[in-house]
Amino acid sequence: MGIEAFRFDGKHALVVGGASGMGQATGDLVKELGGTVTVMDVKEPLGAHDRFIQLDLVDKASIDAALDQVTDPVHALFSCAGISGGAPLPQINFIGQRHLIESALDRGLLTRGASIAMIASIGGMGWEHDLDAIGEVLDTPDYETAVKWIEANPERNDYSFFKRVMIAYCGRQAPDLMRRGIRINATAPGPTMTPLMASTEGWQGFETGFQAMMGRPGSTADEQAYPLVFLASDAASFVSGTCLIVDAGFIGGGMTGALEGPMVDALVKRRA
Ligand SMILES: NC(=O)c1ccc[n+]([C@@H]2O[C@H](COP(=O)([O-])OP(=O)(O)OC[C@H]3O[C@@H](n4cnc5c(N)ncnc54)[C@H](O)[C@@H]3O)[C@@H](O)[C@H]2O)c1
Repeated sequence: MGIEAFRFDGKHALVVGGASGMGQATGDLVKELGGTVTVMDVKEPLGAHDRFIQLDLVDKASIDAALDQVTDPVHALFSCAGISGGAPLPQINFIGQRHLIESALDRGLLTRGASIAMIASIGGMGWEHDLDAIGEVLDTPDYETAVKWIEANPERNDYSFFKRVMIAYCGRQAPDLMRRGIRINATAPGPTMTPLMASTEGWQGFETGFQAMMGRPGSTADEQAYPLVFLASDAASFVSGTCLIVDAGFIGGGMTGALEGPMVDALVKRRA
């Protein structure tokens, strides 16, 4: 197949959270690679797309209503939405995204050959040390019970925990989905210059520290879109259940002791 395996000709991509940042860059890239793009987001998309369907991941009925409007098969489902803090974080960063993915599967929108690619974070590192609590979330069968779980465990309402949950979700779903010919993966971006970064004070400080340690700024949204789109392409046909760290080497350096300091300790050596 050669270079064709990287292309999206004749394919339909659904980009959830595709209005800005990495999701926008993902839609732009899929369009350039020959695909058609439906963006779902709470706000109007800034980038290239064929169709926009508004939804709010905090509202389950809104997710269902958005999916009611999709009748074409989805060959690549990009789950890119996210916020950095605030009350409905679990719903936006994982619970709503899971409901959308599983509803799309139940409706038969994703069939053999399709793939799912989610955006986690290097904030989700250490997930393998936290599998008991993560398992409790993943054992919840649906949106409502997952919301009830977080209401009963408010100390887990944080950005890093739900990124860990997302990474583990990809691993846990992969074998069953593979038997249906569908793949699921995530990326874990390092600091990335997006509207979310610009509006999150702590992240800007992290990016400054990253730059001092790594000798380059955080990534552009395009630099994150390339690996995410690769994971959803046929070129990655044997890749599933994994999380690709896209951070210029920060986590690898931290895990091996090539990088040290409080930022490394916070992200790499964290235990539940
Ligand atoms: N920017 C970074 O440094 C960084 C680093 C690691 C991971 N991430 C993750 O990358 C993903 C993309 O973020 P980004 O940096 O491109 O930011 P962004 O704000 O540009 O993109 C996030 C998108 O999610 C959408 N969204 C927010 N709330 C929503 C809701 N209730 N319903 C539907 N859509 C909603 C936004 O409208 C936006 O289009 C997020 O999951 C974020 O957690 C970001």
